[in-house]
Amino acid sequence: MRDLLRARTSLKEEIEILLNNQVKMEAEASAKYLAMASWCDRNGFKNSAAYFLKQSDEERGHMLKIFNYIMTVGGTAVSPEVPAVKQEFASFRSVFETALQSEISVTQAINRIVTQSRREEDYATENFMQWFVNEQIEEEDNARRAIELFDVIGEEGTGRYHIDKAILKISSEN
Ligand code: FEO
Repeated sequence: MRDLLRARTSLKEEIEILLNNQVKMEAEASAKYLAMASWCDRNGFKNSAAYFLKQSDEERGHMLKIFNYIMTVGGTAVSPEVPAVKQEFASFRSVFETALQSEISVTQAINRIVTQSRREEDYATENFMQWFVNEQIEEEDNARRAIELFDVIGEEGTGRYHIDKAILKISSEN
């Protein structure tokens, strides 16, 4: 049955697996950002909480985009299982450091799909993934800019309050 269905799509099984893994990674990213939003909220960083909530929403959007693509090209989109995510962070800054690390991992995973699509001559998927390649430039840039605020403003005194305020600007620019 599975093979019969597969014969009716040009999507290779290996690419389908990579795409479903990416669905899962985006879902996990969405959950991670929720945990970051909650941590920021309960530690008094309301703007950062709003920023991470928005990021979480975007990640769900990314997940759906890939999920829909798999269905459109005749594959089997798998509703992702999300593993437990970290709820606690050592510091305000470490939340943003974690966010940047997570975005870098996503970029690397996306690059692997592009590489593999090209190798398999799946130009439709390669083309589809270009949107994500571009999106990751912005996602990483946002995360780096947030971390830069810690260095530029400094955390002493009312520093963290001002950093949280400045996060608003990153959030409103995209
Ligand atoms: Fe969908 Fe932030 O990677």
